Amino acid sequence: MNPVGNPRQSQENLNPELPLTPAQRSNLWPLTARGYPAWRAQSLTWLSGQPFPLEREARLFLGLCRPQPGQDWLDAGTSAGFYAGLLARTGCRVLAADLSAPMLAEARRREDHPNIDWLLTNLEASGLPDASFDGVTVGATLNETHDPARLLAELSRLTRPGGGLWLMYLGRTGGPLQRLLSLPATGGLTFPDPAWVARQLPGWTRTDGLRVGAVVFERYVKGVA
Ligand SMILES: C[S@@+](CC[C@H](N)C(=O)[O-])C[C@H]1O[C@@H](n2cnc3c(N)ncnc32)[C@H](O)[C@@H]1O
Repeated sequence: MNPVGNPRQSQENLNPELPLTPAQRSNLWPLTARGYPAWRAQSLTWLSGQPFPLEREARLFLGLCRPQPGQDWLDAGTSAGFYAGLLARTGCRVLAADLSAPMLAEARRREDHPNIDWLLTNLEASGLPDASFDGVTVGATLNETHDPARLLAELSRLTRPGGGLWLMYLGRTGGPLQRLLSLPATGGLTFPDPAWVARQLPGWTRTDGLRVGAVVFERYVKGVA
């Protein structure tokens, strides 16, 4: 089942009531979208303190989550479409969602695959039907979104029982740079602690977790161990 219906058609569901962080607003600029793929290709190496090319992240995700052809996945905050592209090439049907139209345009340019539908929406309140997806990928969107607890609750609602949730985010270090970037004036970013994330996901089982420097990878399964 494809929750969007018409393949390859962008739909818009931006709720103007939902506040945005400065980090989210910066993603609305076309220049940010244009530069994002270059940052993304290097960022985990810089943030983890060891070589971490996209190929390594792809192997980690595919090895732990094992997405299956024909499954429905949501890429939550797709940006340039890294996870959406991986999933589509595995044979999954993907809804790649983002609140930034320039990001979606960039992703579409880079990951033009018939298995991907694109959706402009704020995933803190997507309006999509319950239990639409077999799996959800969240690559660093938790760090940027205004209300990460609300985002996780919404993604939980959208996942079928037995479905998977893949999280990649910058975990809390308590360092001065993170404190600065958390201020509303300088980014409004959130750096969650893994224990806090687990508390937002009642009824989910954390099956895998890896921390490399500040970068956290986690796989959760809804309901079952
Ligand atoms: C750090 S980037 C994500 C990178 C991408 N997931 C990846 O792994 O390459 C965060 C993206 O999430 C989007 N975003 C942030 N909050 C969102 C929300 N509440 N709903 C939808 N998209 C959101 C931003 O526009 C941005 O493109």
